[in-house]
Amino acid sequence: MTSPAAPRRYTAVAILLHWLIALGILALIAMGLVMAHADIPPMQRFQLYQWHKSVGLTVLMLALLRLVWRLFHRPPPLPATMPAAERRAASAAHLVLYGLMLGLPLVGWALVSASPFNIPTVLYGVVPWPHLPGFAELSNKAAVEGALKLVHAYGAWILGALVVLHVAAALRHHLVLRDDTLWRMLPGLRRPQAAPLPQPSGSAR
Ligand code: HEM
Repeated sequence: MTSPAAPRRYTAVAILLHWLIALGILALIAMGLVMAHADIPPMQRFQLYQWHKSVGLTVLMLALLRLVWRLFHRPPPLPATMPAAERRAASAAHLVLYGLMLGLPLVGWALVSASPFNIPTVLYGVVPWPHLPGFAELSNKAAVEGALKLVHAYGAWILGALVVLHVAAALRHHLVLRDDTLWRMLPGLRRPQAAPLPQPSGSAR
């Protein structure tokens, strides 16, 4: 029995989830930095927190969906020319990215659940969202919240650094190595024709 040919591109669902999550993460880092560090009026800060929690929990759900989709849909193979060390580095970076896409929002949810202020979360001002079970009964909520805030902030920096690395690697594949790596994650674009190689001078063709 012959196995089906490997796909050349990611599925439309995987591409949609990839770009929605990417957009969400960039927005969350920007919102997180402003709400935690900028000198803004209290009401604006409160609203930013609400947006941050809503988008963060949306990213958590999209990342879960993406993980399930990934388990049932084979991704296109890496370029055959890619050295083994680079393959291992790419796989490790993708694994850590998945871990942070899921872990960081979970830590955010946990820190909100542990807060002694017990501020409710209402997704986009519409859907009431519960606190994580077990945190309401803690006797040392402030200490747990403080520790989770640190983990959340350091996790966000690591995620930000990995995103920069990920974008740099994708651009290197596209602009320097000129392979299919970025193209197969772009929505609905035809594969551009490879530019003809320059011919040595004096060549008849
Ligand atoms: C991928 C998802 C997420 C990313 C990338 C992210 C990113 C960030 C960043 C960059 C900060 C500022 C950290 C600092 O410098 O102090 C922050 C703070 C915060 N995040 Fe998130 N976040 C995510 C998900 C969530 C979720 C799901 C929640 C809650 C449901 C949440 C709740 C908070 C809260 C309450 C703070 C303020 C912490 C403080 O006051 O120090 N985050 N986040």
